[in-house]
Amino acid sequence: MKEKKIPTVSFFSFLKNANKIVKNPLPFHHKNFEKNGDTFRLKLGMGNSVIFSRNPEFAMYTLQKNQRNYTKSKIQTKDLSKYVGKGLLTSEGELWKKQRRLIQPAFHKKQLEQLLDTVLEAIQIEMRHIQPNTAIDIFPILNDLAFQTVAKALFRTQIDPMIIKRLQYITEAAQQMLVKELRQPFKTLYFKYGGPIKKHIDLTIEAREILQKLVSERRESGERQNDLLDMLLDARYEDGTGMDESQLIDEILILFVAGHETTSNALTFTLQLLAQYPEIQEKVYAECNGSEKDSAFAKADTTSLLAYIKHCEYTKQVIEESMRLYPPAYFVDRVNYETDEFDEIRIAKESSLLFSIKEIHMHKEYWEDPESFNPDRFADNAGMKHKAYFPFGAGPRMCIGNNFAMYEMVLAIAEVVKKYKIKKKETPIEIKPLITLKPQNAILEFIPR
Ligand code: HEM
Repeated sequence: MKEKKIPTVSFFSFLKNANKIVKNPLPFHHKNFEKNGDTFRLKLGMGNSVIFSRNPEFAMYTLQKNQRNYTKSKIQTKDLSKYVGKGLLTSEGELWKKQRRLIQPAFHKKQLEQLLDTVLEAIQIEMRHIQPNTAIDIFPILNDLAFQTVAKALFRTQIDPMIIKRLQYITEAAQQMLVKELRQPFKTLYFKYGGPIKKHIDLTIEAREILQKLVSERRESGERQNDLLDMLLDARYEDGTGMDESQLIDEILILFVAGHETTSNALTFTLQLLAQYPEIQEKVYAECNGSEKDSAFAKADTTSLLAYIKHCEYTKQVIEESMRLYPPAYFVDRVNYETDEFDEIRIAKESSLLFSIKEIHMHKEYWEDPESFNPDRFADNAGMKHKAYFPFGAGPRMCIGNNFAMYEMVLAIAEVVKKYKIKKKETPIEIKPLITLKPQNAILEFIPR
């Protein structure tokens, strides 16, 4: 077999840039892609290394074509799962397959349609926290909005606001602890034996108890709320049995973790971009606002929220373009079970692979003028068909909540733009790459229309 050698970035180069990498690894990645091409190996010392790639075909090969040979890295399957358990995002192999098959139907468009009124109501309630005519950081409001939306989609009217706040505090604290573990490996012993990890595991035990109580109340009441919890309780494996209680709790916790930060990041970046491009903001307004004759409301010709969302095509394009420039899940990682080969590159057994979604989304060979914000590039449903576009991943482990997220984001953006003109206060847009790509100092002003 002909074997292509991939360029190697030395451990020394990694060490030399360690301080900068801890703060923001993206410039280091970018510099190395520009210097070494679309795939390179970064040495991490002690014989460890990671293969970095921004080749979308390589990404598709591992995520879809030969996905059976690949699993997730330990960041999700071990480090995160010790807090939030083994739900869809963190499980592997047969358990994952069985759960995905069981849960998938609850996320079908038809099922989601039943949740849209609750989603819209949650958005409208949270939007009341926007203080008009004042410079505010919009991220915390959108973060609460995204958590509330998942919580109410799961528990419709059953859940008390204080309980939602507590669950949000716990899931966010666990995620922040995980970031510390990953960013400060030199404190591993302290984290492990000095109490911080245990404290956060104890918090997640409290979250489990809260969820258990909510689930028991629902079962005992015999009441139907037609929410995600009902759908999860109704779901049956092939042998006719349902999910056991502890698996159900794990899945609920995972939906909170996977569904809230990603969505709030995307919403924040989108509002920031709309503030920077007032003419695009006006086009979104014209589409979403009920009074315009060619608006989505007029075209939908019905009170169905799903029909309305479907007609908000330009708003969807804006969100897609925002996630191209600022993908909340800015990398996807995998490890191969067996030795593999892609395009004459030999991938030794158990290699760590990291696909930079941010770099793929900015790749000059696949995108014209990649730096510019141009929602028109996603006209005619071009988004999900584009071979270098992966905001929700790809293959069988692609985001199960992608439709949920898109519906929620279209409704949220439409609600904000209908009510306010968004003005920018800070430029350029600042990013904070942690487990997800987060916005920083998203200071905006909302002028009532
Ligand atoms: C803008 C919002 C979102 C983005 C960008 C996003 C992105 C992603 C990506 C890239 C993956 C695949 C990760 C991988 O293959 O390693 C994923 C998986 C997942 N997402 Fe999302 N997500 C979003 C919203 C949501 C929402 C709203 C939910 C649920 C309510 C959700 C639930 C999940 C779950 C459960 C998985 C694991 C699926 C599996 O492995 O079978 N996500 N997401």
